[in-house]
Amino acid sequence: MISWSEEFTVNNPSIDMEHRSLFAALNKFYDGLKANASKESMSALITNLIYYANTHFENEEMHMRKIGFPGIDLHIKEHREFISKTKEFQCKFESGKLIVSFEVTNFIKDWITNHIKTQDKQYAVFSK
Ligand SMILES: [Fe+2]
Ligand SMILES: [Fe+2]
Repeated sequence: MISWSEEFTVNNPSIDMEHRSLFAALNKFYDGLKANASKESMSALITNLIYYANTHFENEEMHMRKIGFPGIDLHIKEHREFISKTKEFQCKFESGKLIVSFEVTNFIKDWITNHIKTQDKQYAVFSK
């Protein structure tokens, strides 16, 4: 569904690696959806995705602090919004109020790719 390529680089090998892991977690989720996986498996896959996102955001925020990136507050706000939105999807899904659809998956995919290309790239440029 999504593959990492140089267009996503933030010129930091360890953060690039984390973005790759995030893409991998999203792909697994997408595969589960395509294969009509059980509700339990889908739930585990979204938990996995949120876990990867959280871990990555923490590391990235630490990195931005370290380099003194001035746009950090707004950036953190975007991370928090993403986590709360995906947790909301998860809650609704688990309580049967939402069917995880390709729309939901696409929302997550678009968010992640746009975020890296616009927000993450800003600290990459700053630290050059
Ligand atoms: Fe990132
Ligand atoms: Fe970010």
